[in-house]
Amino acid sequence: MHFTMKDEILKRFLNANGEPISGQALADELQVSRTAIWKHLQTLKQEGYEFDTVKKRGYKLVTVPDKVDMGQLQQFLKTKRYGRQVHYFESVESTQLVAHELVREGGPDGTVIIAEHQTAGRGRMMREWESSEGKGIWMTIIIRPEIAPHQAPQFTLVTAVAVVNAMKAMFKNFTPEIKWPNDILVNGKKTTGILTEMVAEADRIQALLIGIGINVNQQMDDFPEPLQSIATSIAIEEGEPIERVHLVANVLDFLEHYSDMYVKNGFGFIKTLWEDSSGTIGKRVKATTLREVVEGEAISITENGVLQIRQANGEVKGIYSADIEIL
Ligand code: BTN
Repeated sequence: MHFTMKDEILKRFLNANGEPISGQALADELQVSRTAIWKHLQTLKQEGYEFDTVKKRGYKLVTVPDKVDMGQLQQFLKTKRYGRQVHYFESVESTQLVAHELVREGGPDGTVIIAEHQTAGRGRMMREWESSEGKGIWMTIIIRPEIAPHQAPQFTLVTAVAVVNAMKAMFKNFTPEIKWPNDILVNGKKTTGILTEMVAEADRIQALLIGIGINVNQQMDDFPEPLQSIATSIAIEEGEPIERVHLVANVLDFLEHYSDMYVKNGFGFIKTLWEDSSGTIGKRVKATTLREVVEGEAISITENGVLQIRQANGEVKGIYSADIEIL
C-alpha cells in the first residue's frame, strides 16, 4: 500500500498539533474537491480518529487511535526504504505467511507487514507465538540484501542489535539484553522474539523475512498463565503505556542503518554491538539442542553467530541452534 490521499490528509492533521484545519484549505492544497476531503475524514472516523468541527475554522483532530497504521508510521520514520511500503492488517494468520506471498510477488526491500492480531503467530522451532490484539508489535520486514545464503544467521544478529538499541534509545527505566541468538530479555524475562526465514537460490539470497514480535502494552494478566513466569512487556518494565508506532519507527530506523552498514562494512562492528548488549556472554548456560544438552560458560560468538560454550572439562563446543537457559 502506498501513501494515499487519506494518509496525506491524516499527516496534515497530525502535524497541526490539535489546531483546526479548514476543509477548503486542504482541498486547495491537495487539489481535490471538498467532498473528497469529507469522504476521507469519514473513513478516518471509522478507523477510530475523532474530529471536532470548529466554527468557521474547519476540523481539528482530537483522538488518535492506538494503531500502527501507514499514516501514523510515516510521521515518525526517518528511513529511506524500510517501512515505506506497509501492509497493515487488523487480523492475519501470521505476518510471515503474508510476507512469503509478497516475496513471490516481488515486494521490494524494506516492505513491512504489520498486524494488530495474529491468529497463528509463529515462533522459532515451530512454536506458537502469542500475539494478543492491539497490545504488541507483530511485524515482518522483507529485506533483500546483497549477501550469500551462509551469511543469513549474521543478519538475524543485525536485527537483534537494531531492536535492542531502539529500545535503549527510547526507554530509560530498564536495560534490555540479548539472549543468544536473538531474544530480548528484560530482567530475565522475554519481551521480544525474532524469527528469520530465508528465500534463496544456491548462491544468492532472494529475500530475508525478518519477523519481530515485541510485547509492548500487555499487563501480566494479559499473558496466558504458562507465559507469566517467562514473559514481560515494555509497559510493565517501563511503568507506563507505550505508543507502539514510535517504537516501530525506531526499530525500522535502526534496522535500516545497521543493515546498510553491515552490507557495506561486514559483520565486525555488529558482533561488537551484539556483545555489548549481550546478557549471555560470560554467563553459565545450559543449551538444549535437538541432540544433546551442553552446559558451561558462554565465552563468545563466532563470525557466523555460533555460540561458543566452554564445558567443565575445558572443551569448547559451538552451538548453532538451541534453547538457552541462563543458569
Ligand atoms: C521466537 O520464537 O522467539 C520468535 C517469535 C517471532 C514472532 C514474530 S511476530 C511477527 C512475525 N509473525 C509471526 O508469525 N512470527 C513473527
